[in-house]
Amino acid sequence: MKVSGETKIIGIFGYPVTHSLSPLFQNAAFEALGLNFVYLPFLVKPEDLKGAVESIKSLNMVGVNVTIPHKKKVLVYLDELSSEAKMMGAVNTICYRDGKLIGYNTDGKGFISSLTKEGKFNPQGKRALILGAGGAAWAISFALIEAGVKRLNIANRTIKKAEILLERLKEFFQDKCEITLIDFDKVNSSIVMNEVDLLINATSVGMHPEDSLLINPELLAPHTFVYDVVYNKKTKLLKAAEDRNLPCLGGLGMLVYQGAYSFEIWTHKKAPLKEMKEVLKEQEKCFVT
Ligand code: ATR
Repeated sequence: MKVSGETKIIGIFGYPVTHSLSPLFQNAAFEALGLNFVYLPFLVKPEDLKGAVESIKSLNMVGVNVTIPHKKKVLVYLDELSSEAKMMGAVNTICYRDGKLIGYNTDGKGFISSLTKEGKFNPQGKRALILGAGGAAWAISFALIEAGVKRLNIANRTIKKAEILLERLKEFFQDKCEITLIDFDKVNSSIVMNEVDLLINATSVGMHPEDSLLINPELLAPHTFVYDVVYNKKTKLLKAAEDRNLPCLGGLGMLVYQGAYSFEIWTHKKAPLKEMKEVLKEQEKCFVT
């Protein structure tokens, strides 16, 4: 990559940001298409977020990704929001266009593309159980309902957070789907698990080798598809699903597809998925399914 006077700048705002894989695969994508763009990590402290967002305009950047812990707080500094960003109250992509900062959220779409294209699983009419109520769970829940799941069960260690998510989902999708909360300590029952077509681990459990399983794998029904958003390794949950010959996927696809949608918002070009995945395969801390 040659940086010139015409190079267009994109970045990621996060705190921390060093762990982010986005610079790696976004720059690989620019290179693959011969685009004169560069993607840089920016360590932005919470108290500096307003100034950082304003700098997108003042530095005439194309846009940025926004990650932990800024995805919700950034909304107030933007001029416009996409319908997804409005619903979820969270932004992961900003585009600076015609003097305006526009906020998008590509996480949910990224999940659905990974699930349907890589996993060949069609969520329409299915019963899903999601573990977690953090940022990933929010994006996935909205996207799954929009994609037509018949039932969505949510279980989170902290019940209050699950209740907030439920309330928000009901606000937007009153009758579109049957949405219920399940006590976190009650998910490990065959009655619950037998009725699950799609199990999603949207918690961070599984990232560390010492993490224990949240679900007893013996309870996984033979018709269940298992999706684990953790992408840095093959988690115990995925290993157990594989041992049971169940269809399953790790979270790297979601990461790549959300990035691909961001890429397309900024460049108006089709993202080179193959090259984006390829560069991640070379990374030790990635588990590519
Ligand atoms: P992300 O944006 O990646 O979803 P997050 O917003 O910090 O990250 O959410 C992390 C999720 O993992 C939460 O649902 C969290 O549960 P709590 O709401 O109870 O904190 C869940 N989580 C993290 N560690 C967990 C553990 N040891 N057991 C169960 N759930 C856990």
